[in-house]
Amino acid sequence: MGGSFPEGFLWGVATASFQVEMGRGEAADGSDWWSWVHDGENQRRGWVSGDVPEDGPGFWELYPKDLKLAHELGCNAFRLSVDWARIFPSSTEVVDVEVHRDRYGNIEKVWVDERAMRELGRLSDHAAVRRYRSILAECRKEGLEPMVTLYHWPIPLWLHDPIATRDGTAPPGKRGWLDEGTLIEFAKYCAYVARTLGDLVDLWGTINEVKIVSDHGFLDRGEFPPGLNDLSSFMTVMRHLSMAHGLAYEQVKRWDTASAGPLGPSSVGIVAVLHYHEPADPSSEADMKATLLNDYLFNEWSLNAVLRGDYDMDIDGLAVGEEALPNLVKGCDWIGVNYYMRRRVAYVAKGGDPCLDYGFAPSEDPSDIGFDTYPEGLRWVLDWCYRTYRRPIYITENGIADAADSMRERYIVGHLDAIRRAIELDGVPVRGYFHWSLFDNLEWSSGYGVKFGLCSVDPRTKRRTPRASAAAFKRIAEANKLL
Ligand code: FCB
Repeated sequence: MGGSFPEGFLWGVATASFQVEMGRGEAADGSDWWSWVHDGENQRRGWVSGDVPEDGPGFWELYPKDLKLAHELGCNAFRLSVDWARIFPSSTEVVDVEVHRDRYGNIEKVWVDERAMRELGRLSDHAAVRRYRSILAECRKEGLEPMVTLYHWPIPLWLHDPIATRDGTAPPGKRGWLDEGTLIEFAKYCAYVARTLGDLVDLWGTINEVKIVSDHGFLDRGEFPPGLNDLSSFMTVMRHLSMAHGLAYEQVKRWDTASAGPLGPSSVGIVAVLHYHEPADPSSEADMKATLLNDYLFNEWSLNAVLRGDYDMDIDGLAVGEEALPNLVKGCDWIGVNYYMRRRVAYVAKGGDPCLDYGFAPSEDPSDIGFDTYPEGLRWVLDWCYRTYRRPIYITENGIADAADSMRERYIVGHLDAIRRAIELDGVPVRGYFHWSLFDNLEWSSGYGVKFGLCSVDPRTKRRTPRASAAAFKRIAEANKLL
């Protein structure tokens, strides 16, 4: 096949609601992330940059131009997310649903019936639903297959008060993914979104990056809501998010029965961030052990849970007794791989839980934010992921923080070459590539200074300007071939 990608390969750019929508039109001010980045104490502690989403690129209003731009850059697909707090600004807890539990008490099924669906309809923000429908219709008009992520991080404030959770004063029911009840509300939200947007969407991602949400929010005190540092909370959240995938999968399959195109009616996957791990010192046994642990905990753990029902809560490498929950495996039609970097892992004694005794060696080829650029790692990760889980793969994110645009073209070409070789030489069924991102946006707690865009954005006029690397992306995408 030379430098070519398979016929029908999807070429897209990836975005997320909180990062791109605001800046024009109604703000989505009802989420935990909104309150997290605005919190004065977080700003004083330097946990967040002080940049706020209402200064964002304004996709909520400017989407017709943006989708045209994506089309002009050679895309035939577009990844976006729905903001749960926009759809349900007030609590859905009042909507009665049947919850089935297994013999250990885990939520096995949430049954949303027509009556519950009508009540959800009354509680939802109809204008927000209409706007998402317009965005999706516009995608189709521009020849872009939309991939919709159901959970790309903000959750409604009525389910998660991140400041009170940070301060240890939040009551159960307000602690987001620490609370099991969040799973039930998530199932309702997914059912409703699948029902109301399903005729326009065939490709659904459930959870974006179980690892980052759990790690940055519950182990890495600071950056992400609710800023905790507690191994047991981290494990609880990994567990709940993995379970949330199954519940979302069932709802989408049940409520989206309409095909919008050839992929339909619903192809549902999970989006995992996978790093390529290597020991900082290959001759050090301690570094090797720390590397294997990182790989297990951050690459494997939640995929094992989602695809096999292995919930290894004591991190001993085995799922036995109450940890073996094949009854919670609901399906996963594909795996989305977000790949950014290599991590060279070193053993570092920290005096806390020995499971967390590690650090990372500095990058040999760093991006603006120090990510260790390493395209060959992607080929390895893809091969591992397919051999282990046997699912088709989409590259749902890959990109680089590079304000000067001096590395991006090399980054894109290097990673696409790795993908091409994984397809051609290793037989990995990769179905598409979504570059992160179309334009610069709010890089969560780090703010607008981090530039991941193929295009820059003028903060005042919101004008998008393609960087030189965007032309390279376009050339390859249009030819479906590395030239
Ligand atoms: C990923 C996130 C995405 C973006 C990139 C740079 O972890 O999914 O929203 O912030 O990192």
